[in-house]
Amino acid sequence: MASLSPSSCTLFTTPTSNSSSRPLFAKPSHFFTHAKSTPRFRVSCNTGNGEQNMKDDSQNVDSQGKVDRRNMLFGLGGLYGAANLPSNPLAMAEPIKPPELDKCGTATNLNNKEKLDINCCPPVTQKIIDYRLPPVRFMRTRPSAHRASPEYVFKYNMAIDRMKRLPANDPRNFMQQANIHCAYCNGAYDQPGQGTLDIQVHNSWLFFPFHRWYLYFYERILGKLIGDPTFALPFWNWDNPKGMTIPPMFVDPKSALFDEKRNQSNLPPAVVDLGLTGSKDPLQVVANNLTIMYSEMIRGNKTAEDFMGKPYREGNDPDPGPGASERGSHTSVHAWVGDPREKSQEDLGNFYSAGRDPLFYCHHANVDRMWTLWQYFLPSNKVPDKKITDPDFLNAAFVFYDENAQLVRVTVRDCLDNMRMGYDFERIDLPWLDYRPPPQTARAKIIKASSDAPMASTIFPVTLDKIVRVQVPKAKKGKADELLVLEDIEVDTTKLIKVDVFVNDEDDNNNELDKAAYLGTYAQVPHKTTSKTAKTSIRLKLTDLYDDMDIDDDDTIVVTLVPRHQGGGITIGGIKIIEAPAEKSG
Ligand code: C2O
Repeated sequence: MASLSPSSCTLFTTPTSNSSSRPLFAKPSHFFTHAKSTPRFRVSCNTGNGEQNMKDDSQNVDSQGKVDRRNMLFGLGGLYGAANLPSNPLAMAEPIKPPELDKCGTATNLNNKEKLDINCCPPVTQKIIDYRLPPVRFMRTRPSAHRASPEYVFKYNMAIDRMKRLPANDPRNFMQQANIHCAYCNGAYDQPGQGTLDIQVHNSWLFFPFHRWYLYFYERILGKLIGDPTFALPFWNWDNPKGMTIPPMFVDPKSALFDEKRNQSNLPPAVVDLGLTGSKDPLQVVANNLTIMYSEMIRGNKTAEDFMGKPYREGNDPDPGPGASERGSHTSVHAWVGDPREKSQEDLGNFYSAGRDPLFYCHHANVDRMWTLWQYFLPSNKVPDKKITDPDFLNAAFVFYDENAQLVRVTVRDCLDNMRMGYDFERIDLPWLDYRPPPQTARAKIIKASSDAPMASTIFPVTLDKIVRVQVPKAKKGKADELLVLEDIEVDTTKLIKVDVFVNDEDDNNNELDKAAYLGTYAQVPHKTTSKTAKTSIRLKLTDLYDDMDIDDDDTIVVTLVPRHQGGGITIGGIKIIEAPAEKSG
């Protein structure tokens, strides 16, 4: 627990990327208890906003928050060396700026052909305060929703009930809070000064930071409504077999946590299907889920952006590309809970309505937990590159109403450390951590030898309305660190899309993901962007798969793309294999 002395010099605790400082597992006797990490203590003197904790480019940022590009380019006056410059030289843009609330417009939900206009704009306030993280006096420990005590459930229920009873125009009201998601995700805000180009907080590197701030204020509002400064949101522990059903507290029709608009076939005891394979075998689904978690947290990523999402800067089109976690488990949970009886799979199945289901915040608390685990707990021999140091990432900003209904401006750089924000998670075992799929060597060879799949160069672009199988040449013969790139993906943003990628796999069992041949996924939740189509690309790391299948020495691999959604809606422009960029450590 962090503590603060009254002087301006502060003894406080800070997590570090050294995984030993936040133990990953509690001792067996401490499983499922609120066991605390063993933090490292540091002393610092400052105003309490913890700036000293950031290894960043603060020397390069002027009082307007603008980055002095000269300093960056010449490597002066900052911690940036050339190695930390954005890899794309055209990328010297500006960070995404917060929306102007007085220019908030109509949000749109497009449901296939039908267009639905929604007003989800917040109340307008002229005064905006630059938010400074308050000193951490009480640590809020987010509990696993399946393990929460009856007292906790009572308190949480009361807090949500009070939030629902606030006046409709109070920005802390339940619907107002739900509308935050709609406005930031369904085209109500334009990028200031960029014409009609939307702000979109999904499918890019803004995904984790935006949702972290969103939940941060949501949690503080709830705490304030029940007078409990330690109140913490529960997380839906869908990455652990013990948490793979909708948590019981959300399915009591008398509770404020209940929402009718959910898929009735997926109420408990249905096991959450993170692969959306539709498999009816619960044991297979659990094995798939653990494999997916291993793949999206560890096996499939080479760089921080592979996990976090692609760069998104001022003037860019929305939806440049989601990271592995966003497009994987995150998207599947939305789709799995959304109600097929509703036109647009409301509530969780569509971004405009997702925040109307209290379960959304519980789902996203676990998404946020995944970011924390990835940042601070995954060993650096498994995940070497954990930081994005690009100033257009660190200086991107949003606005929210805080627990006192004041409009505040927040930046990505201030949300990189959950402990500094005053909350942590109950320690729960991570059964996916060592769930590397078993080797599949002989089988992979036979499939490759007998494949008559066409070469990738001959068939793209391809619309994925059925299974597609192609041969793709390796970048380099022999042992190599390589990435598979699905490029020029054009996706209809109004539809649920999901495509799984397999390598040297047979035809008939693609509902089994717990095997070396499963490489990863592309998926999206329906939403709206400036145009109905988004252009994106994803990369999946092949290195471990080559080892697990012993196919380093082949010239080509056979890639199978398996759509899980109905119909088309996604076109892939091409597939190629590239050598992985050199490793950064962080
Ligand atoms: Cu902003 Cu899970 O969505």
